Amino acid sequence: MKRSVEERNWLEQRNVIVCRCEDVTLEEIRRAIAQGATTLDELKRLLRVGMGPCQGRTCRELLARELAEHLGKPVAEIMPPTFRPPAKPVKLGLLSRMVENAPRGDEGSSLEGGESR
Ligand code: FES
Repeated sequence: MKRSVEERNWLEQRNVIVCRCEDVTLEEIRRAIAQGATTLDELKRLLRVGMGPCQGRTCRELLARELAEHLGKPVAEIMPPTFRPPAKPVKLGLLSRMVENAPRGDEGSSLEGGESR
């Protein structure tokens, strides 16, 4: 049986993983968009995309492109999703070394926005 180009494309899209951390396929993303999702935050809430260990570093751009294409907007106009700090884990040892290596009388100023009191 020979499949049409459209049928092959459909089959390929079904299995393309866009968010590896949360195991979400292109088909699931397109379905969510078809059901009304218009922002990255809405996709995040519906599918958990961008909420895995990489915090969306891998999939965010792909999701933005998919939304932009559907909405007919440039990717730059797609609002980034909200982030909750810390965006990236920092080891306490690193923070400790920053304090130890700070010039005398300046301990902690780099952790308080750089202003001395
Ligand atoms: S690939 Fe989507 S959160 Fe990591």
